[in-house]
Amino acid sequence: MDNKYTSYIVEYDKYLDLVQQNIIKLLPDVDGLARVLRESEIYSLSAGGKRIRPVLVLAACEICGGKVQDAIAAACALEYIHTFSLIHDDLPAMDDDDLRRGKATNHKVYGEAIAILAGDALVLNAAEILVKDAIGTSDETLRLGKLKAMDIITSLAGNDGMIVGQVVDIESEALLLNQSNAEDTENPILQADYIKRLDFIHRNKTGALIAAAVLAGGLVAGADDMQLDALRQYAEAIGLGFQIKDDLLDIESTTEELGKPTGSDEKNAKLTYPSLYGIAASYRKLEELTFAAEKALDVFGERAAFLRDFALGMQVRKN
Ligand code: IPE
Ligand code: IPE
Ligand code: MG
Ligand code: MG
Ligand code: MG
Repeated sequence: MDNKYTSYIVEYDKYLDLVQQNIIKLLPDVDGLARVLRESEIYSLSAGGKRIRPVLVLAACEICGGKVQDAIAAACALEYIHTFSLIHDDLPAMDDDDLRRGKATNHKVYGEAIAILAGDALVLNAAEILVKDAIGTSDETLRLGKLKAMDIITSLAGNDGMIVGQVVDIESEALLLNQSNAEDTENPILQADYIKRLDFIHRNKTGALIAAAVLAGGLVAGADDMQLDALRQYAEAIGLGFQIKDDLLDIESTTEELGKPTGSDEKNAKLTYPSLYGIAASYRKLEELTFAAEKALDVFGERAAFLRDFALGMQVRKN
């Protein structure tokens, strides 16, 4: 293992530790009568995800000169929203999957009603901890930074991001199956529609929360416009790359390694990068995006070493 890789892992673990110490501590308590809600939330939150979004919040904050302690609420809020998106994504009405983060999916353990409610509650928990954190901040500049972070997180999770991506993902199921005769594959109007949809789906269902993470970290740190612009370009590239890699792993990995079922996209006839462009072209696109992500960070110089390694780490990840 070379030194560069070792220092990347050490730094990732430093951010991860902070997330692990706070993620359950910040979760609002519930009345004993509704204990199952909290159990269900904690079940999915503790199931062992990679925590890339909260790690990105903390890293982006530090790179822009902020203190990681100030970004912990934003980091945990994003992981709550991401976990909600996964609980609902796995429901029978959506992707209908039984395994997540190496464990039975939330609805398989708690039933669909509690899984839906736990997801609903996690979004609101996220908003609650962000508002409480801003209210409890006496420094005006920092409070404004935290409110701007909340603004970006809630809009990119909702009607301008993750949720609309999920809507178009579901609405585009079976599109390629229904249009698979040779005439249609060569029809430029249909092809342009698929390309537009796929881009929209990936940038929103996955890219938006990744962008929210990177930008929220920068906003808490009081980043200037040039820094925010660089972070935005970086996040766009790794966000799209992250979903392309997810699509590739769904085909090429194993359930054991991924901790979630492989073949889920084929089962649901999803519109994905490999289904539209093929595997080799998907890998090429992923490589281009990693390069673009690294390049976007030039304005930060050496300070952005972790985020550069992170882009590469996501390109070669195994789960
Ligand atoms: C899975 O996200 C869903 C996508 C947006 C591709 P992650 O791969 O970050 O899942 P966890 O949090 O590590 O389980
Ligand atoms: C999920 O995309 C995106 C969100 C959960 C918002 P996928 O449906 O491909 O994610 P996995 O593969 O189930 O994790
Ligand atoms: Mg899905
Ligand atoms: Mg899914
Ligand atoms: Mg997937």
